[in-house]
Amino acid sequence: MGRLENKVALVTGGAMGIGAAHCRELAAQGAKVVMCDVADDVGMSLAKEIGATYVHLDVSKEDEWATVVNEVVGSLGNIDILINNAGIAKSTPIGTAKTEDWDRVIAVNLTGTFFGMRAVAASMKAAGGGVIVNTSSVAGLVGTPGISAYVASKWGVRGMTKSAAMDLGPDNIRVFSIHPGAIDTPMSPAGDREPRGQIITRWGQAEEVAKMMLFLVTDATFSTGSEFVIDGGFTAR
Ligand SMILES: NC(=O)c1ccc[n+]([C@@H]2O[C@H](COP(=O)([O-])OP(=O)(O)OC[C@H]3O[C@@H](n4cnc5c(N)ncnc54)[C@H](O)[C@@H]3O)[C@@H](O)[C@H]2O)c1
Repeated sequence: MGRLENKVALVTGGAMGIGAAHCRELAAQGAKVVMCDVADDVGMSLAKEIGATYVHLDVSKEDEWATVVNEVVGSLGNIDILINNAGIAKSTPIGTAKTEDWDRVIAVNLTGTFFGMRAVAASMKAAGGGVIVNTSSVAGLVGTPGISAYVASKWGVRGMTKSAAMDLGPDNIRVFSIHPGAIDTPMSPAGDREPRGQIITRWGQAEEVAKMMLFLVTDATFSTGSEFVIDGGFTAR
């Protein structure tokens, strides 16, 4: 018997990397997993393997959020868990960044996270409560050169999470930000797995991030609006 039997869990960016690990963990715990992504072929294949439902969703598209949430509530019931995981990184050094790259990173990482929380809030309230896990980064705790838009988006997710926790707390909805460090996924540059200042001198695995997510949606019942770091000690310095 899983710990999330019959809970409806929606994961964005669920086809690959950390999102795929979240989907696997939630499915293993008995949740009805709705995997949302723009990588349709990969997503449909994984969804079939783990018994999830795959839905195309570009998190930066407001209208797509409304459609997906309506369909999920109609077919599976109210949404109990939202994992806002979809994210992209683009090179945006302050001196030379292209405006379209800045805009796209903010649209996916920050506005997409806002759209997700707003879209599920009424459904979670109707369910009697819920849990939202927003994906920030160690880049939402410190600066990083060359990726100004990514850093801005992740600091934004961190701050917005605290406001959301206050707005949604009266409806019994807990909201967290998670802050992974170097995690071995398709987003990470191929071949580069040298330690990057972690105390634990290896890269993290997506499954380790999923275990933290599981703690937040199950046992972290007196936490909300707070930051959970999984970075091998990178930000301890
Ligand atoms: N890998 C790391 O080291 C690391 C560190 C800190 C934070 N993060 C964050 O964790 C999250 C997942 O990262 P990852 O490493 O698994 O990345 P990834 O690139 O391996 O996977 C991201 C997934 O998001 C999907 N996606 C991209 N744009 C989308 C959109 N507009 N709408 C819906 N889905 C979209 C992709 O298709 C992919 O399946 C991201 O928010 C990322 O910023 C990753």
